[in-house]
Amino acid sequence: MALTLPSLLSTSSAASSPCLPPHRTLFTGPSTLSLNRSCRRRRSGPRASVAFDSPAEAGERGGSSSGELLLEVRGLSAVISESKKEVLRSVDLTVHQGEIHAIMGRNGSGKSTFSKVLAGHPQYEVTGGVVTFKGQNLLDMDPEERSHAGLFTSFQDPVEIPGISNYDFLLMAYNARQKKLNRPEIGPIEFFSVVDPKLAMLKMEKGFLDGHVNGASGGQKKRSEILQLAVLGADLCILDEIDSGLDVDALQDVAKAINGLLTPDNSILMITHYRRLLDYIKPAYVHIMEDGRIIKTGDASLAKQLEEGGFKAVSAT
Ligand SMILES: Nc1ncnc2c1ncn2[C@@H]1O[C@H](COP(=O)(O)OP(=O)(O)OP(=O)(O)O)[C@@H](O)[C@H]1O
Ligand SMILES: [Mg+2]
Repeated sequence: MALTLPSLLSTSSAASSPCLPPHRTLFTGPSTLSLNRSCRRRRSGPRASVAFDSPAEAGERGGSSSGELLLEVRGLSAVISESKKEVLRSVDLTVHQGEIHAIMGRNGSGKSTFSKVLAGHPQYEVTGGVVTFKGQNLLDMDPEERSHAGLFTSFQDPVEIPGISNYDFLLMAYNARQKKLNRPEIGPIEFFSVVDPKLAMLKMEKGFLDGHVNGASGGQKKRSEILQLAVLGADLCILDEIDSGLDVDALQDVAKAINGLLTPDNSILMITHYRRLLDYIKPAYVHIMEDGRIIKTGDASLAKQLEEGGFKAVSAT
């Protein structure tokens, strides 16, 4: 599949979300040239057995609020496509509408891999498990379809796209969603009235829109990811280390913007190393990831325990 930028941008059908629903999926590197080979479940060869939690255990992985079931991950296992190295080992997670979840864990424990596998990143191949998103089999969808369905993923290291301005990028993504929802596309002048209030919310300069995608400093890239989310919206936002590189004021701005986008219908899954973020965006569930699986789930006090006692204080054993 030949890739053009618009093919990397997609929209969500989550019309119910007041934060405009759709968004984009963007992968980097040569592997993006084969989105159809992305991490759908492997269709041939042996499948790993699926480890289902008991209902009680599943409850401990989150998802006991009154909101509708949004994301259900059961026994998700994955390998790196090229090397076949196992990176996810039977991950279980349940997210309902309106819930905020945090995933914490040591460097290299598999947090980013988990988010990328959910987004359908072609670097990974799913070898087992079931993932249901809004009642649909997520693993059978292309990355673009996942995005159309309302899944937004902000990556730990957003890729730079020289030659494409932030404004054009957002406009293309926005119009892709309009098209998907059979709504009229809007022109560049009209689009400014969509972006302007979001920029103000994130305390970003208008000049940012002229810069190229992710061509800014680390902290600005993170703001830019949230700007994309604010303009495009989502039912489930996966935020991978959205706090990294942000100074204390920027962290507050970004957290305020994210909180402002929350509704009873949408949910956040945030990956972080620091409790500081969780002071601003308060999760109902904190999950600890280790060696490619979620080994423990608790409430926000788990993050406090982690900060005070290190990983040994929250280890499964
Ligand atoms: N595409 C890849 N190629 C090679 N190794 C990979 C790839 N993706 C993940 N890994 C390996 O899988 C493991 C999990 O990586 P991952 O990036 O998910 O960790 P993480 O928990 O997000 O770490 P950090 O906190 O440092 O961001 C690591 O050992 C990493 O080197
Ligand atoms: Mg990571």
